[in-house]
Amino acid sequence: VRQLMKQRRPPGFPPGPSPIPVIGNIMSLATEPHVFLKKQSEIHGQIFSLDLGGILTVVLTGYDCIRECLYNQGDVFADRPSLPLFQKMTKMGGLLNCKYGKGWIEHRKLACNSFRYFGSGQRQFERKISEECMFFVDAIDEHKGKPFNPKHLVTNAVSNITNLIIFGQRFTYDDRNFQHMIEIFSENVELAVSGWALLYNAFPWIEYVPFGKHQKLFRNAAEVYDFLLEVINGFSQGRVPHAPRHYVDAYLDELEQNKGEPGSSFSQENLIYSVGELIIAGTETTTNTLRWAMLYMTLYPNIQERVHREIDSVLENGRVPTMEDKQKMPYVEAVLHEILRFCNIVPLGIFRATTQEAKVNGYTIPKGTMVITNLYSVHMDEKYWTDPGVFSPQRFLDSNGNFVKREAFLPFSMGKRCCLGEQLARMEMFLFFTTLLQRFHLQFPPGTVPTVTPKLGMTLQPQPYSICAVRRQQKS
Ligand code: HEM
Repeated sequence: VRQLMKQRRPPGFPPGPSPIPVIGNIMSLATEPHVFLKKQSEIHGQIFSLDLGGILTVVLTGYDCIRECLYNQGDVFADRPSLPLFQKMTKMGGLLNCKYGKGWIEHRKLACNSFRYFGSGQRQFERKISEECMFFVDAIDEHKGKPFNPKHLVTNAVSNITNLIIFGQRFTYDDRNFQHMIEIFSENVELAVSGWALLYNAFPWIEYVPFGKHQKLFRNAAEVYDFLLEVINGFSQGRVPHAPRHYVDAYLDELEQNKGEPGSSFSQENLIYSVGELIIAGTETTTNTLRWAMLYMTLYPNIQERVHREIDSVLENGRVPTMEDKQKMPYVEAVLHEILRFCNIVPLGIFRATTQEAKVNGYTIPKGTMVITNLYSVHMDEKYWTDPGVFSPQRFLDSNGNFVKREAFLPFSMGKRCCLGEQLARMEMFLFFTTLLQRFHLQFPPGTVPTVTPKLGMTLQPQPYSICAVRRQQKS
Protein backbone atom coordinates (compact mmCIF):
# COMPACT_ATOMS: atom_id res chain seq x y z
CA VAL A 1 0.00 0.00 0.00
CA ARG A 2 2.83 2.40 0.83
CA GLN A 3 4.27 1.82 -2.61
CA LEU A 4 0.98 2.77 -4.22
CA MET A 5 0.67 5.87 -2.05
CA LYS A 6 4.09 7.04 -3.16
CA GLN A 7 3.09 6.59 -6.78
CA ARG A 8 0.23 9.07 -6.69
CA ARG A 9 1.15 12.46 -8.09
CA PRO A 10 0.86 15.23 -5.48
CA PRO A 11 -1.43 18.24 -6.18
CA GLY A 12 -0.04 20.67 -8.75
CA PHE A 13 2.54 18.10 -9.94
CA PRO A 14 3.21 18.05 -13.70
CA PRO A 15 1.20 15.43 -15.63
CA GLY A 16 2.71 12.45 -17.38
CA PRO A 17 2.10 9.02 -18.86
CA SER A 18 0.02 6.62 -16.77
CA PRO A 19 2.15 4.33 -14.67
CA ILE A 20 1.87 0.55 -14.73
CA PRO A 21 1.22 -0.71 -11.17
CA VAL A 22 4.36 -1.12 -9.05
CA ILE A 23 7.04 -0.53 -11.70
CA GLY A 24 5.41 2.69 -12.96
CA ASN A 25 7.13 4.06 -16.09
CA ILE A 26 10.47 2.29 -15.61
CA MET A 27 10.11 0.51 -18.95
CA SER A 28 9.95 3.88 -20.72
CA LEU A 29 13.65 4.24 -20.04
CA ALA A 30 14.53 0.89 -21.60
CA THR A 31 15.42 1.92 -25.17
CA GLU A 32 16.74 5.30 -26.32
CA PRO A 33 15.19 7.07 -23.30
CA HIS A 34 16.17 10.55 -24.52
CA VAL A 35 14.26 10.05 -27.78
CA PHE A 36 11.28 8.50 -26.02
CA LEU A 37 11.12 11.28 -23.42
CA LYS A 38 11.25 13.97 -26.09
CA LYS A 39 8.28 12.31 -27.81
CA GLN A 40 6.43 12.15 -24.50
CA SER A 41 6.89 15.89 -24.07
CA GLU A 42 4.92 16.40 -27.28
CA ILE A 43 1.95 14.84 -25.48
CA HIS A 44 2.43 16.09 -21.91
CA GLY A 45 4.31 19.37 -22.30
CA GLN A 46 7.82 20.76 -21.71
CA ILE A 47 7.67 19.75 -18.11
CA PHE A 48 6.10 16.42 -17.28
CA SER A 49 6.45 13.63 -14.77
CA LEU A 50 7.34 9.96 -14.62
CA ASP A 51 6.90 7.41 -11.92
CA LEU A 52 10.03 5.28 -11.74
CA GLY A 53 8.77 2.50 -9.54
CA GLY A 54 7.50 4.91 -6.87
CA ILE A 55 10.22 7.51 -7.41
CA LEU A 56 8.44 10.59 -8.69
CA THR A 57 10.52 12.24 -11.37
CA VAL A 58 10.15 15.43 -13.36
CA VAL A 59 11.49 15.63 -16.92
CA LEU A 60 12.53 19.01 -18.35
CA THR A 61 12.39 19.43 -22.12
CA GLY A 62 13.63 22.11 -24.52
CA TYR A 63 15.99 25.05 -24.05
CA ASP A 64 13.51 27.51 -22.49
CA CYS A 65 12.33 25.14 -19.78
CA ILE A 66 15.84 23.89 -18.91
CA ARG A 67 17.19 27.42 -18.74
CA GLU A 68 14.29 28.53 -16.52
CA CYS A 69 15.02 25.75 -14.01
CA LEU A 70 18.80 25.28 -14.13
CA TYR A 71 19.74 28.92 -14.57
CA ASN A 72 16.94 31.23 -13.39
CA GLN A 73 16.20 28.97 -10.43
CA GLY A 74 19.77 27.71 -10.07
CA ASP A 75 19.76 27.04 -6.31
CA VAL A 76 16.44 25.22 -6.41
CA PHE A 77 17.59 22.65 -8.99
CA ALA A 78 21.14 22.13 -7.72
CA ASP A 79 20.78 18.90 -5.76
CA ARG A 80 21.35 15.26 -6.72
CA PRO A 81 18.67 12.64 -5.93
CA SER A 82 19.30 10.42 -2.91
CA LEU A 83 18.83 7.24 -4.93
CA PRO A 84 19.70 3.97 -3.18
CA LEU A 85 22.28 3.22 -5.88
CA PHE A 86 24.16 6.49 -5.33
CA GLN A 87 23.85 6.09 -1.57
CA LYS A 88 25.43 2.69 -1.84
CA MET A 89 28.17 3.84 -4.22
CA THR A 90 29.31 7.15 -2.73
CA LYS A 91 27.08 7.75 0.31
CA MET A 92 26.04 11.02 -1.40
CA GLY A 93 29.56 12.31 -0.78
CA GLY A 94 32.44 12.85 -3.21
CA LEU A 95 31.78 15.56 -5.79
CA LEU A 96 29.67 14.62 -8.78
CA ASN A 97 26.91 12.91 -6.83
CA CYS A 98 27.33 14.91 -3.64
CA LYS A 99 24.31 16.47 -1.94
CA TYR A 100 24.13 20.24 -2.50
CA GLY A 101 25.63 21.82 0.61
CA LYS A 102 28.91 22.27 2.45
CA GLY A 103 30.41 19.00 1.21
CA TRP A 104 29.73 19.82 -2.42
CA ILE A 105 30.97 23.42 -2.08
CA GLU A 106 34.24 22.26 -0.49
CA HIS A 107 34.87 19.53 -3.05
CA ARG A 108 33.89 21.57 -6.08
CA LYS A 109 36.08 24.47 -4.99
CA LEU A 110 39.09 22.22 -4.41
CA ALA A 111 38.62 20.51 -7.79
CA CYS A 112 38.18 23.79 -9.69
CA ASN A 113 41.23 25.33 -8.01
CA SER A 114 43.31 22.22 -8.70
CA PHE A 115 42.24 22.13 -12.35
CA ARG A 116 43.36 25.72 -12.68
CA TYR A 117 46.54 25.37 -10.61
CA PHE A 118 47.81 22.08 -12.06
CA GLY A 119 46.02 22.42 -15.39
CA SER A 120 44.98 25.31 -17.60
CA GLY A 121 46.57 27.92 -15.30
CA GLN A 122 50.01 26.40 -15.82
CA ARG A 123 52.01 27.64 -18.77
CA GLN A 124 53.49 24.22 -19.42
CA PHE A 125 50.20 22.42 -19.32
CA GLU A 126 49.37 22.95 -22.96
CA ARG A 127 52.77 21.54 -23.85
CA LYS A 128 52.00 18.46 -21.79
CA ILE A 129 48.77 17.92 -23.71
CA SER A 130 50.71 18.30 -26.96
CA GLU A 131 53.17 15.67 -25.73
CA GLU A 132 50.30 13.29 -25.09
CA CYS A 133 48.95 14.10 -28.57
CA MET A 134 52.30 12.97 -29.97
CA PHE A 135 52.27 9.70 -28.02
CA PHE A 136 48.75 9.26 -29.37
CA VAL A 137 49.45 9.83 -33.07
CA ASP A 138 52.69 7.82 -32.87
CA ALA A 139 50.76 4.90 -31.42
CA ILE A 140 48.24 5.20 -34.26
CA ASP A 141 51.09 5.29 -36.76
CA GLU A 142 52.13 1.86 -35.57
CA HIS A 143 49.01 0.45 -37.24
CA LYS A 144 50.48 1.64 -40.58
CA GLY A 145 47.11 2.46 -42.10
CA LYS A 146 45.68 -0.99 -41.33
CA PRO A 147 42.24 -1.25 -39.70
CA PHE A 148 42.09 -0.91 -35.90
CA ASN A 149 39.58 0.04 -33.23
CA PRO A 150 40.74 3.39 -31.82
CA LYS A 151 38.78 3.13 -28.57
CA HIS A 152 41.60 2.03 -26.26
CA LEU A 153 44.12 4.51 -27.55
CA VAL A 154 41.71 7.43 -27.34
CA THR A 155 40.66 6.42 -23.83
CA ASN A 156 44.25 6.15 -22.66
CA ALA A 157 45.38 9.39 -24.21
CA VAL A 158 42.40 11.35 -22.91
CA SER A 159 42.50 9.96 -19.38
CA ASN A 160 46.20 10.78 -19.16
CA ILE A 161 45.38 14.49 -19.24
CA THR A 162 43.20 14.12 -16.15
CA ASN A 163 45.82 11.82 -14.63
CA LEU A 164 48.41 14.59 -14.95
CA ILE A 165 46.25 16.88 -12.82
CA ILE A 166 45.17 14.27 -10.31
CA PHE A 167 48.35 12.21 -9.90
CA GLY A 168 50.96 14.42 -11.59
CA GLN A 169 51.77 11.60 -13.99
CA ARG A 170 50.56 9.78 -17.08
CA PHE A 171 50.06 6.03 -17.42
CA THR A 172 51.68 4.28 -20.37
CA TYR A 173 49.46 2.79 -23.08
CA ASP A 174 50.41 -0.73 -22.02
CA ASP A 175 49.45 -0.30 -18.35
CA ARG A 176 46.97 -3.17 -18.11
CA ASN A 177 45.90 -2.43 -14.54
CA PHE A 178 44.91 1.13 -15.29
CA GLN A 179 43.14 0.07 -18.49
CA HIS A 180 41.21 -2.60 -16.66
CA MET A 181 40.09 -0.08 -14.03
CA ILE A 182 38.83 2.33 -16.69
CA GLU A 183 37.10 -0.52 -18.51
CA ILE A 184 35.06 -1.75 -15.57
CA PHE A 185 34.41 1.81 -14.39
CA SER A 186 32.95 2.73 -17.76
CA GLU A 187 30.98 -0.50 -17.75
CA ASN A 188 29.40 0.88 -14.56
CA VAL A 189 28.50 4.14 -16.29
CA GLU A 190 26.54 1.97 -18.69
CA LEU A 191 25.03 -0.23 -15.99
CA ALA A 192 24.01 2.78 -13.86
CA VAL A 193 21.05 3.43 -16.13
CA SER A 194 20.24 -0.18 -17.00
CA GLY A 195 16.83 -1.58 -16.08
CA TRP A 196 18.46 -3.40 -13.18
CA ALA A 197 19.85 -0.21 -11.70
CA LEU A 198 16.48 1.52 -12.00
CA LEU A 199 14.82 -1.45 -10.35
CA TYR A 200 17.40 -1.38 -7.59
CA ASN A 201 16.59 2.27 -6.91
CA ALA A 202 12.90 1.51 -6.68
CA PHE A 203 13.31 -1.75 -4.77
CA PRO A 204 16.65 -1.72 -2.92
CA TRP A 205 15.95 -5.13 -1.40
CA ILE A 206 16.95 -6.68 -4.74
CA GLU A 207 20.45 -6.13 -3.40
CA TYR A 208 19.87 -9.53 -1.85
CA VAL A 209 18.89 -11.12 -5.14
CA PRO A 210 22.17 -12.89 -5.95
CA PHE A 211 22.01 -12.49 -9.74
CA GLY A 212 21.41 -9.53 -11.98
CA LYS A 213 23.44 -6.66 -13.35
CA HIS A 214 23.30 -4.67 -10.11
CA GLN A 215 25.60 -7.29 -8.56
CA LYS A 216 28.13 -6.72 -11.33
CA LEU A 217 27.88 -2.98 -10.66
CA PHE A 218 28.73 -3.44 -6.98
CA ARG A 219 31.61 -5.81 -7.73
CA ASN A 220 33.08 -3.42 -10.29
CA ALA A 221 32.79 -0.47 -7.91
CA ALA A 222 34.58 -2.34 -5.12
CA GLU A 223 37.40 -3.28 -7.48
CA VAL A 224 37.73 0.28 -8.79
CA TYR A 225 37.90 1.75 -5.27
CA ASP A 226 40.59 -0.78 -4.24
CA PHE A 227 42.66 0.15 -7.26
CA LEU A 228 42.23 3.89 -6.69
CA LEU A 229 43.21 3.63 -3.03
CA GLU A 230 46.40 1.86 -4.01
CA VAL A 231 47.23 4.42 -6.69
CA ILE A 232 46.43 7.34 -4.38
CA ASN A 233 48.72 5.91 -1.72
CA GLY A 234 51.45 5.43 -4.31
CA PHE A 235 51.31 8.96 -5.68
CA SER A 236 51.11 10.59 -2.26
CA GLN A 237 54.48 9.08 -1.28
CA GLY A 238 57.03 11.79 -0.61
CA ARG A 239 54.40 14.48 -0.13
CA VAL A 240 55.59 17.72 1.46
CA PRO A 241 52.69 19.42 3.28
CA HIS A 242 51.61 22.73 1.70
CA ALA A 243 53.63 22.06 -1.43
CA PRO A 244 51.10 20.08 -3.46
CA ARG A 245 52.34 18.44 -6.66
CA HIS A 246 48.85 17.41 -7.83
CA TYR A 247 45.17 17.13 -6.82
CA VAL A 248 45.76 14.22 -4.42
CA ASP A 249 48.38 16.23 -2.50
CA ALA A 250 46.11 19.26 -2.42
CA TYR A 251 43.29 17.10 -1.07
CA LEU A 252 45.51 15.62 1.64
CA ASP A 253 46.50 19.14 2.69
CA GLU A 254 42.82 20.00 3.16
CA LEU A 255 42.20 16.75 4.95
CA GLU A 256 45.00 17.44 7.45
CA GLN A 257 44.06 21.06 7.92
CA ASN A 258 40.47 20.18 8.74
CA LYS A 259 41.26 17.23 10.98
CA GLY A 260 39.07 17.35 14.08
CA GLU A 261 36.97 20.11 12.53
CA PRO A 262 33.36 19.04 13.11
CA GLY A 263 31.36 18.83 9.88
CA SER A 264 34.37 18.84 7.56
CA SER A 265 33.61 16.84 4.45
CA PHE A 266 37.21 15.96 3.60
CA SER A 267 37.90 12.29 4.24
CA GLN A 268 39.89 9.40 2.86
CA GLU A 269 36.65 7.95 1.51
CA ASN A 270 35.56 11.16 -0.21
CA LEU A 271 39.05 11.47 -1.67
CA ILE A 272 38.65 8.08 -3.38
CA TYR A 273 35.14 8.95 -4.60
CA SER A 274 36.15 12.30 -6.04
CA VAL A 275 39.27 10.95 -7.73
CA GLY A 276 37.13 8.23 -9.31
CA GLU A 277 34.46 10.69 -10.41
CA LEU A 278 36.96 13.11 -11.91
CA ILE A 279 38.71 10.33 -13.83
CA ILE A 280 35.55 8.79 -15.24
CA ALA A 281 33.68 12.07 -15.88
CA GLY A 282 36.67 13.37 -17.79
CA THR A 283 37.48 10.18 -19.67
CA GLU A 284 34.13 8.75 -20.82
CA THR A 285 32.81 12.02 -22.19
CA THR A 286 35.87 13.38 -23.97
CA THR A 287 36.76 9.94 -25.35
CA ASN A 288 33.26 9.46 -26.73
CA THR A 289 33.33 12.91 -28.33
CA LEU A 290 36.60 12.16 -30.11
CA ARG A 291 35.43 8.70 -31.20
CA TRP A 292 32.26 10.23 -32.67
CA ALA A 293 34.35 12.91 -34.34
CA MET A 294 36.59 10.28 -36.00
CA LEU A 295 33.54 8.31 -37.12
CA TYR A 296 31.77 11.34 -38.61
CA MET A 297 34.90 12.60 -40.37
CA THR A 298 35.11 9.21 -42.07
CA LEU A 299 31.42 9.19 -42.94
CA TYR A 300 31.64 12.70 -44.42
CA PRO A 301 34.86 12.83 -46.48
CA ASN A 302 34.02 16.29 -47.82
CA ILE A 303 33.85 17.68 -44.28
CA GLN A 304 37.10 15.89 -43.44
CA GLU A 305 38.72 17.42 -46.49
CA ARG A 306 37.70 20.92 -45.45
CA VAL A 307 39.13 20.25 -41.98
CA HIS A 308 42.38 19.10 -43.59
CA ARG A 309 42.54 22.24 -45.69
CA GLU A 310 42.00 24.54 -42.72
CA ILE A 311 44.58 22.71 -40.62
CA ASP A 312 47.17 22.82 -43.40
CA SER A 313 46.65 26.50 -44.06
CA VAL A 314 46.99 27.52 -40.40
CA LEU A 315 49.69 25.11 -39.27
CA GLU A 316 52.41 26.05 -41.73
CA ASN A 317 55.04 23.39 -42.42
CA GLY A 318 53.23 20.88 -40.27
CA ARG A 319 53.97 22.63 -36.97
CA VAL A 320 52.25 21.52 -33.76
CA PRO A 321 48.85 23.16 -33.04
CA THR A 322 48.47 25.44 -30.01
CA MET A 323 45.38 26.89 -28.36
CA GLU A 324 46.14 30.21 -30.01
CA ASP A 325 45.38 28.61 -33.37
CA LYS A 326 41.81 27.86 -32.33
CA GLN A 327 40.44 31.26 -33.29
CA LYS A 328 42.03 30.88 -36.71
CA MET A 329 40.21 27.60 -37.25
CA PRO A 330 36.50 28.40 -37.28
CA TYR A 331 35.66 25.33 -39.34
CA VAL A 332 37.31 22.91 -36.89
CA GLU A 333 35.45 24.70 -34.08
CA ALA A 334 32.17 24.34 -35.98
CA VAL A 335 32.78 20.62 -36.56
CA LEU A 336 33.55 19.95 -32.89
CA HIS A 337 30.47 21.91 -31.81
CA GLU A 338 28.26 20.06 -34.25
CA ILE A 339 29.62 16.72 -32.94
CA LEU A 340 28.72 17.76 -29.39
CA ARG A 341 25.25 18.91 -30.48
CA PHE A 342 24.40 16.04 -32.78
CA CYS A 343 25.94 13.12 -30.87
CA ASN A 344 24.62 14.10 -27.41
CA ILE A 345 27.38 12.59 -25.31
CA VAL A 346 25.38 12.98 -22.07
CA PRO A 347 21.82 12.92 -23.46
CA LEU A 348 19.97 13.21 -20.15
CA GLY A 349 22.64 15.13 -18.25
CA ILE A 350 23.29 13.86 -14.73
CA PHE A 351 20.17 13.42 -12.62
CA ARG A 352 19.30 16.44 -10.51
CA ALA A 353 16.94 16.98 -7.59
CA THR A 354 15.15 19.96 -6.05
CA THR A 355 16.61 21.52 -2.88
CA GLN A 356 13.23 23.04 -1.96
CA GLU A 357 9.69 23.26 -3.29
CA ALA A 358 9.79 24.67 -6.82
CA LYS A 359 7.22 26.50 -8.94
CA VAL A 360 7.65 26.12 -12.70
CA ASN A 361 5.10 26.99 -15.43
CA GLY A 362 2.34 26.95 -12.80
CA TYR A 363 3.28 23.50 -11.50
CA THR A 364 4.47 22.71 -7.99
CA ILE A 365 7.39 20.33 -7.51
CA PRO A 366 8.08 19.17 -3.94
CA LYS A 367 11.52 19.34 -2.34
CA GLY A 368 13.70 16.31 -3.07
CA THR A 369 12.01 15.40 -6.37
CA MET A 370 14.30 13.79 -8.93
CA VAL A 371 14.77 15.91 -12.08
CA ILE A 372 15.91 14.69 -15.50
CA THR A 373 17.27 17.35 -17.89
CA ASN A 374 16.78 16.15 -21.45
CA LEU A 375 19.82 17.84 -23.00
CA TYR A 376 19.17 15.93 -26.23
CA SER A 377 15.86 17.81 -26.52
CA VAL A 378 17.76 21.12 -26.26
CA HIS A 379 19.96 20.16 -29.21
CA MET A 380 16.92 19.04 -31.21
CA ASP A 381 14.80 22.06 -30.18
CA GLU A 382 13.08 23.24 -33.37
CA LYS A 383 12.57 26.70 -31.90
CA TYR A 384 16.34 27.21 -31.97
CA TRP A 385 17.65 24.93 -34.71
CA THR A 386 16.62 24.47 -38.33
CA ASP A 387 16.59 20.82 -39.38
CA PRO A 388 18.08 19.69 -36.06
CA GLY A 389 18.18 16.09 -37.29
CA VAL A 390 20.75 16.93 -39.97
CA PHE A 391 24.50 16.84 -39.27
CA SER A 392 25.79 20.20 -40.47
CA PRO A 393 28.81 22.04 -39.03
CA GLN A 394 27.76 24.96 -41.22
CA ARG A 395 25.12 26.00 -38.67
CA PHE A 396 27.94 27.25 -36.42
CA LEU A 397 29.32 29.56 -39.14
CA ASP A 398 28.12 32.92 -40.40
CA SER A 399 28.08 33.86 -44.07
CA ASN A 400 31.73 34.96 -43.85
CA GLY A 401 32.80 31.65 -42.41
CA ASN A 402 33.29 33.03 -38.88
CA PHE A 403 32.42 30.82 -35.93
CA VAL A 404 29.16 31.81 -34.19
CA LYS A 405 28.07 30.73 -30.72
CA ARG A 406 24.56 29.34 -30.46
CA GLU A 407 22.36 29.73 -27.42
CA ALA A 408 20.58 26.38 -27.31
CA PHE A 409 23.84 24.47 -26.99
CA LEU A 410 24.22 22.74 -23.62
CA PRO A 411 26.46 19.66 -23.92
CA PHE A 412 28.03 20.67 -20.59
CA SER A 413 24.64 21.54 -19.06
CA MET A 414 24.26 24.82 -17.15
CA GLY A 415 23.76 26.29 -13.67
CA LYS A 416 25.34 25.37 -10.34
CA ARG A 417 26.21 21.77 -11.21
CA CYS A 418 27.38 22.43 -14.76
CA CYS A 419 30.43 20.51 -15.97
CA LEU A 420 33.56 21.69 -14.21
CA GLY A 421 35.80 20.14 -16.85
CA GLU A 422 34.42 22.10 -19.80
CA GLN A 423 37.51 24.20 -20.34
CA LEU A 424 39.81 21.21 -20.07
CA ALA A 425 37.61 19.14 -22.38
CA ARG A 426 37.67 21.91 -24.98
CA MET A 427 41.46 22.09 -24.90
CA GLU A 428 41.78 18.34 -25.24
CA MET A 429 39.26 18.08 -28.07
CA PHE A 430 40.87 20.82 -30.09
CA LEU A 431 44.48 19.65 -29.65
CA PHE A 432 43.80 15.92 -30.12
CA PHE A 433 41.49 16.45 -33.09
CA THR A 434 43.76 18.83 -35.00
CA THR A 435 46.92 16.80 -34.29
CA LEU A 436 45.17 13.65 -35.47
CA LEU A 437 43.79 15.11 -38.69
CA GLN A 438 46.96 16.99 -39.42
CA ARG A 439 48.77 13.69 -39.72
CA PHE A 440 46.11 11.26 -40.96
CA HIS A 441 43.40 10.75 -43.48
CA LEU A 442 40.67 8.64 -41.86
CA GLN A 443 38.82 6.03 -43.88
CA PHE A 444 36.82 2.87 -43.31
CA PRO A 445 38.35 -0.50 -44.18
CA PRO A 446 37.24 -1.34 -47.75
CA GLY A 447 33.68 -2.59 -47.93
CA THR A 448 32.63 -1.57 -44.43
CA VAL A 449 30.44 1.26 -43.16
CA PRO A 450 29.87 1.21 -39.39
CA THR A 451 26.52 2.06 -37.86
CA VAL A 452 25.95 5.42 -36.18
CA THR A 453 23.41 3.92 -33.78
CA PRO A 454 24.82 4.63 -30.33
CA LYS A 455 25.43 2.17 -27.56
CA LEU A 456 23.17 3.16 -24.67
CA GLY A 457 24.19 4.22 -21.19
CA MET A 458 24.58 7.40 -19.13
CA THR A 459 26.73 8.53 -22.03
CA LEU A 460 26.25 7.80 -25.71
CA GLN A 461 29.19 6.20 -27.49
CA PRO A 462 29.59 4.69 -30.94
CA GLN A 463 29.44 0.93 -31.30
CA PRO A 464 32.98 -0.43 -31.66
CA TYR A 465 34.28 0.32 -35.16
CA SER A 466 37.47 -0.17 -37.11
CA ILE A 467 39.16 2.60 -38.98
CA CYS A 468 42.23 3.09 -41.18
CA ALA A 469 44.38 6.09 -40.33
CA VAL A 470 46.46 6.70 -43.44
CA ARG A 471 49.38 9.08 -43.15
CA ARG A 472 48.93 12.12 -45.34
CA GLN A 473 51.39 14.22 -47.24
CA GLN A 474 50.92 17.73 -45.99
CA LYS A 475 50.19 20.36 -48.60
CA SER A 476 51.25 23.82 -47.51
C1 HEM B 1 29.18 17.26 -14.93
C2 HEM B 1 29.27 16.90 -19.79
C3 HEM B 1 34.12 16.60 -19.68
C4 HEM B 1 34.00 16.64 -14.83
C5 HEM B 1 28.79 17.19 -16.25
C6 HEM B 1 27.42 17.25 -16.72
C7 HEM B 1 27.46 17.16 -18.08
C8 HEM B 1 28.84 17.03 -18.47
C9 HEM B 1 26.26 17.18 -19.03
C10 HEM B 1 26.17 17.32 -15.85
C11 HEM B 1 25.94 18.67 -15.24
C12 HEM B 1 24.60 18.74 -14.55
O1 HEM B 1 24.38 18.14 -13.50
O2 HEM B 1 23.74 19.44 -15.08
C13 HEM B 1 30.59 16.77 -20.18
C14 HEM B 1 31.04 16.63 -21.55
C15 HEM B 1 32.40 16.55 -21.51
C16 HEM B 1 32.82 16.64 -20.13
C17 HEM B 1 30.12 16.58 -22.76
C18 HEM B 1 33.40 16.41 -22.64
C19 HEM B 1 33.17 16.60 -23.90
C20 HEM B 1 34.52 16.63 -18.37
C21 HEM B 1 35.88 16.62 -17.91
C22 HEM B 1 35.84 16.60 -16.54
C23 HEM B 1 34.44 16.63 -16.14
C24 HEM B 1 37.11 16.62 -18.82
C25 HEM B 1 36.96 16.57 -15.55
C26 HEM B 1 38.08 15.98 -15.70
C27 HEM B 1 32.67 16.78 -14.45
C28 HEM B 1 32.23 16.82 -13.06
C29 HEM B 1 30.83 17.01 -13.08
C30 HEM B 1 30.46 17.08 -14.49
C31 HEM B 1 33.11 16.66 -11.82
C32 HEM B 1 29.89 17.12 -11.88
C33 HEM B 1 29.76 18.58 -11.44
C34 HEM B 1 28.95 18.77 -10.17
O3 HEM B 1 28.14 17.92 -9.82
O4 HEM B 1 29.15 19.80 -9.53
N1 HEM B 1 29.64 17.07 -17.34
N2 HEM B 1 31.69 16.75 -19.35
N3 HEM B 1 33.68 16.65 -17.28
N4 HEM B 1 31.59 16.95 -15.28
FE1 HEM B 1 31.65 16.95 -17.30
